[in-house]
Amino acid sequence: MRQENCKIVSNRQIAENIFELVLEGKLAAEMNQPGQFVHVKVADGFDPLLRRPISIASINDGLFTIIYRRQGKGTSLLADKSTGMTVDVLGPLGNGFPVDEANPGQTAVLVGGGVGVPPMYELAKQLARKGVKVISIIGFQSSNAVFYEKELAEFGEVYVATVDGSYGRKGFVTDIINGLEVQADIVFACGPTPMLRAIENGQYAPKTYLSLEERMGCGIGACFACVCHTQEDPKGFTYKKVCSDGPVFQAGEVVI
Ligand SMILES: Cc1cc2nc3c(=O)[nH]c(=O)nc-3n(C[C@H](O)[C@H](O)[C@H](O)COP(=O)(O)OP(=O)(O)OC[C@H]3O[C@@H](n4cnc5c(N)ncnc54)[C@H](O)[C@@H]3O)c2cc1C
Ligand code: FES
Repeated sequence: MRQENCKIVSNRQIAENIFELVLEGKLAAEMNQPGQFVHVKVADGFDPLLRRPISIASINDGLFTIIYRRQGKGTSLLADKSTGMTVDVLGPLGNGFPVDEANPGQTAVLVGGGVGVPPMYELAKQLARKGVKVISIIGFQSSNAVFYEKELAEFGEVYVATVDGSYGRKGFVTDIINGLEVQADIVFACGPTPMLRAIENGQYAPKTYLSLEERMGCGIGACFACVCHTQEDPKGFTYKKVCSDGPVFQAGEVVI
């Protein structure tokens, strides 16, 4: 893990309120696990004080890409930055998706909802590289929010669901999984909590890994802002920190 002022190679809008930011920095060499994240300081001063956690979408020869939704103050400031400027980045942080759990010849189903889609790109790339069959299922609210369908198609079949039915199949990602004719050996998912809960309850494969989103302070396990209960002790004192124990957990490990 290191903190570095990374140079902006590009920062472009790829869907409604969705931006793809390519950064150059030495810390790209330390990134290897899909699903890890970086903690981004969006402004030079003290406002906003807290860094923003954003998943690593891809890693490529000294460059790395993050994809973010322009939502509140922090991500709006990030969207205003342009090529050649620098961004203070801390990372890579957390434990990502365990690529080793999928074996060559097996089928992995990758499920991304909204800004849960970005980490699926690097995951799909690494799984395909080791000979795992990749099926990506991505879900959005509407057609204008859809991104990375073409990019994910480089590594296998892609299915798109939109809530309003304006693109792909109408409904949720789980509607697509329920209709899949292949049996998944492993499922990896990242997206809104109700989606993760549905995937956990659906038990679509012998092994399922879920990436959780929790509000974060420090991002490195020091402030306890991101704790969640373990399933074996749901009301007690046993907990996991999403930033440093996760953000990826095996289904059934923590309460979501
Ligand atoms: C591990 C992890 C990976 C993430 N990856 C992505 C990604 O790839 N792309 C993307 O668009 N978003 C991602 N998010 C969510 C992203 O961090 C928030 O959308 C962002 O922090 C909002 O900042 P803001 O200043 O625009 O919004 P504001 O609402 O102004 O943020 C206010 C505060 O709330 C925190 N916050 C708000 N929403 C969230 C949230 N959902 N999770 C954690 N903290 C939040 C911010 O860090 C900040 O401290 C991720 C979150 C986590 C925990
Ligand atoms: S965000 Fe500080 S402990 Fe997780």
